Amino acid sequence: MTAEFTKRLDELSGTVSRKLEDYMTKVLAETKGQRKVAEAMGYSLSAGGKRIRPVLAAEFCRICGGDAEAALPAACALEMIHTFSLIHDDLPCMDDDDMRRGKPSCHAAFGEAMALLAGDALLNYAYEVISGGDGLSAETKLALISELSKATGVNGMIGGQVIDTTFEGKMTEAELLNMYSMKTGALLKTACKMGCIAAGAGDEKIAAAELYAEKLGLAFQIIDDILDVTGDEKLLGKPIGSDSENDKTTYVTLNGTEKSRNAAEILTDEALNALEAFEDTQFLKELTLFLLKRDH
Ligand code: IPE
Ligand code: IPE
Ligand code: MG
Ligand code: MG
Ligand code: MG
Repeated sequence: MTAEFTKRLDELSGTVSRKLEDYMTKVLAETKGQRKVAEAMGYSLSAGGKRIRPVLAAEFCRICGGDAEAALPAACALEMIHTFSLIHDDLPCMDDDDMRRGKPSCHAAFGEAMALLAGDALLNYAYEVISGGDGLSAETKLALISELSKATGVNGMIGGQVIDTTFEGKMTEAELLNMYSMKTGALLKTACKMGCIAAGAGDEKIAAAELYAEKLGLAFQIIDDILDVTGDEKLLGKPIGSDSENDKTTYVTLNGTEKSRNAAEILTDEALNALEAFEDTQFLKELTLFLLKRDH
């Protein structure tokens, strides 16, 4: 990775992290007896995620000619929803994982009831943030909310989590990839699309962003599966072996580690090709490769 890439990644994720802190300071100041839930939200938000979805939104906005500020409400909303999905994903009734982002999971630190409610509150705060977004027209806000709510909902991320937790027996590869494109791909895709929407991009650009994100989403979850087997828990910040403990079918259980890595490489190449529809994609290309090679 070039120094320029690392610098920009730090800048983009830093901007989102600071804005998220501002949003949490604002709600904390307004709490009375319910302060605990705001603390749980802030705890998980600031625990140190990679901020990939916000970065994608910001970058697609920029390459579609939008200004940096335009994507910020969408970027923060995406990270709130992603964090809600992780808090709930870790609950004892889901994956039952006690570590997340290098710290005790939300329920381990605050109890199950507070983790459940912190997730719910983050989901709602996301839409509050977009609807109050400075400098966005009412039409753009509505388009962003419509996009994000669909991607998060019953036929998106939540639907994928349902299939993940309820599927009986061994999945076929086609069933597995469909589940991945929902539980993981949907939010990554919506991040790219929301960046385009915030910039006022046309249908052609949005379609190219979708194609990119479909490939990226599958590669991303396959790497996540590989890291669950071969990762270093300290670097990863979450338990390894969670999938096998929960008897999950994953790309790795179906194909082995080596074939899985090959598949992620092919998908990454396809994602890179989809970027040809845009100009000024050096950062996104490096980001795509960074996600393939990541250790956390
Ligand atoms: C983890 O997402 C959950 C999956 C969808 C695989 P990330 O790997 O983006 O997690 P953070 O935000 O960096 O913690
Ligand atoms: C989770 O997939 C996807 C979500 C929607 C949260 P995983 O269960 O594999 O994610 P990790 O490994 O716990 O981050
Ligand atoms: Mg899970
Ligand atoms: Mg999990
Ligand atoms: Mg995983």
